[in-house]
Amino acid sequence: MQIKNSALSLVIDAINQKELEELRLQFLGRSGKLTLAIKEIVKVPIEKRPEVGQLANEVKRAIEEAIEQKISNFKFQISNQKKESIDKTTPGIKPKIGHPHPMTLALYDVVEIFKKIGFQTADGPEIETDYYNFEILNIPKDHPARDAQQTLYIDTRDSKTNPGEIILRTHGSNMQGRIMKKIDHPVRAIYPGKVFRYEQVDASHGFEFWQLEGLAVDKNLTMTNLLGTMSYALKEFFGLDTQVKFVCHNFPFVEPGAEAYMSCTVCKGKGCSFCKQLGWVEILGCGMIHRNVLKAVGYDPQKVSGFAWGMGLSRMIILRYQMDDLRLLTNPDLRILEQF
Ligand code: DAH
Repeated sequence: MQIKNSALSLVIDAINQKELEELRLQFLGRSGKLTLAIKEIVKVPIEKRPEVGQLANEVKRAIEEAIEQKISNFKFQISNQKKESIDKTTPGIKPKIGHPHPMTLALYDVVEIFKKIGFQTADGPEIETDYYNFEILNIPKDHPARDAQQTLYIDTRDSKTNPGEIILRTHGSNMQGRIMKKIDHPVRAIYPGKVFRYEQVDASHGFEFWQLEGLAVDKNLTMTNLLGTMSYALKEFFGLDTQVKFVCHNFPFVEPGAEAYMSCTVCKGKGCSFCKQLGWVEILGCGMIHRNVLKAVGYDPQKVSGFAWGMGLSRMIILRYQMDDLRLLTNPDLRILEQF
């Protein structure tokens, strides 16, 4: 018992692992105090030996356990000290934060490009009435131009609305009527947004894509103003060496109308799957706003004229970053997104 008490109190007082190892030798080693005491058991009367032997074993175990426990305490303290010894003044690891999607980056740019020449930015509904998407734009119910805009209809069976009345807008032109009805001329506005069509999806077509529409109405605006504005915007966005060509095209809401093509940036005009081997990509539709549209919004076509256009914004991004597939823009794969 005496040995046990003195061993345990020495273990408690030990200040490092080395001292503990010394204590282990001092008590439990070959010529340690306890080991020698156990050897003395032979001198104890035979009938008392089992009892004394058991006691000696218990003492041995108690000392061993106390030493082991203390060693593991020291180890724990040392590993904690190591952690503590980190230099707190070194800069931390920066948490990963997101960044704007290429779509958003392009949006910022085009808004800025048009702001420089006096265009305001507007926003409008994606779920639209037939009236603003078609009727007011000189596209009555039986007009063949409706076929070209594969329309997605909203199911209105449970509402008072007539069937076919509410649709997903097929183009950003739905905003023309809304803006001109609300704002008197002169007006210059752009309205970027998503549009929807029941389209066969491929590298350059999607059922949901972005357009950047805009219009300007004032006294004496002519086709030259339109062509100049479009060339300016495309060259600002893609670089001054971008080639732009205009080709006559019919849209019911403009007269005359045109489509603009720009040199394909993916293949540098050589021909690739994105430009269907043409070297040119259709990038926008435009024209002088039809007098029927001006009349429908309450403007006097004798006094003012205007131009409007609709650019394929998703397509512009593909061309800017030389991606070869429109679908990459809606792909959430971080390996794509982290490149921007
Ligand atoms: N809305 C047409 C389309 O999606 C593009 C367009 C053509 C818009 C001529 C216009 C325009 O504003 O004047 O195909």
